[in-house]
Amino acid sequence: MSIPHLSYNPKLELHLPVKARSATTQEPSEPDWLSNIRSFRARVLWSRGRRPAFRTADGRFVDADTHDTSAYHLVLREPARGDILACVRCAPLERLRSSRVRSLAPEAASQLLRGAEISDSDVLEGARLVVEPTWQRSGLGSRLLVAETALAQLLGRRLVWGTMGCRQGQDRFFAKFGRTPLGEQRFTLPQYDDEVVIMIGRPEQVPSHLEGAVASARAELRSCFDKHVTSLAQPSTTEITGH
Ligand SMILES: CC(C)(COP(=O)(O)OP(=O)(O)OC[C@H]1O[C@@H](n2cnc3c(N)ncnc32)[C@H](O)[C@@H]1OP(=O)(O)O)[C@@H](O)C(=O)NCCC(=O)NCCS
Repeated sequence: MSIPHLSYNPKLELHLPVKARSATTQEPSEPDWLSNIRSFRARVLWSRGRRPAFRTADGRFVDADTHDTSAYHLVLREPARGDILACVRCAPLERLRSSRVRSLAPEAASQLLRGAEISDSDVLEGARLVVEPTWQRSGLGSRLLVAETALAQLLGRRLVWGTMGCRQGQDRFFAKFGRTPLGEQRFTLPQYDDEVVIMIGRPEQVPSHLEGAVASARAELRSCFDKHVTSLAQPSTTEITGH
């Protein structure tokens, strides 16, 4: 299979949690950017019928996940038409009513937090890292995972965790970024037609070959946050130049 090559540098967007903003901006519960992310994810995850739950009987792609409004979202877009190429959700654990990691492995999760003496507000739960199939294996997933690590650092999170599928080697992709499995248990999730493992990462312990990329993603995100702070009335999307 030939590796696709992007001829442009896709834009990186940061979206803030909707719930945190709603009191001041009265944003609708599903702004347009979130509808677009949800239908993009559903189309990719539906995967030609492999996961039927992501498509309705009348053919719409739907992934109305309840964690979305509590989370940060990072998005890469094609510059000319603005189509989403890839996205990832990063949720502060204390905002989640029902963490995916906790619901699968409550005991292992609490042992981990207790042992490391960290609380929910030290943890970022990553999920729904999804790349447009045409552009998989062209570095977009890497760029978002690096940006997720940078975001975790800026938010002062000591741990990132999430559930990763195994059937297509996704867990090996995450391992390249220093993520390690929490135990050896695999969980079968029929709705995803997959088995998942829980993987964790320490944002302050970035593999040395990624330090430069994480530092530059951090600088981009910092300027993005600065814009949000100085301009609360701005729209919820801030575009920042990619590296
Ligand atoms: C898994 C996924 C996010 C990877 O993103 P991507 O943009 O294709 O990955 P990249 O091009 O950044 O790859 C980075 C490295 O990981 C490797 N890699 C990527 N996908 C892999 C996989 N499925 N299995 C093993 N290695 C993989 C690449 O070969 C590359 O290795 P290299 O650095 O040695 O060249 C993407 O394939 C995807 O969206 N899959 C469908 C949705 C999904 O399963 N998401 C994960 C939820 S658990």
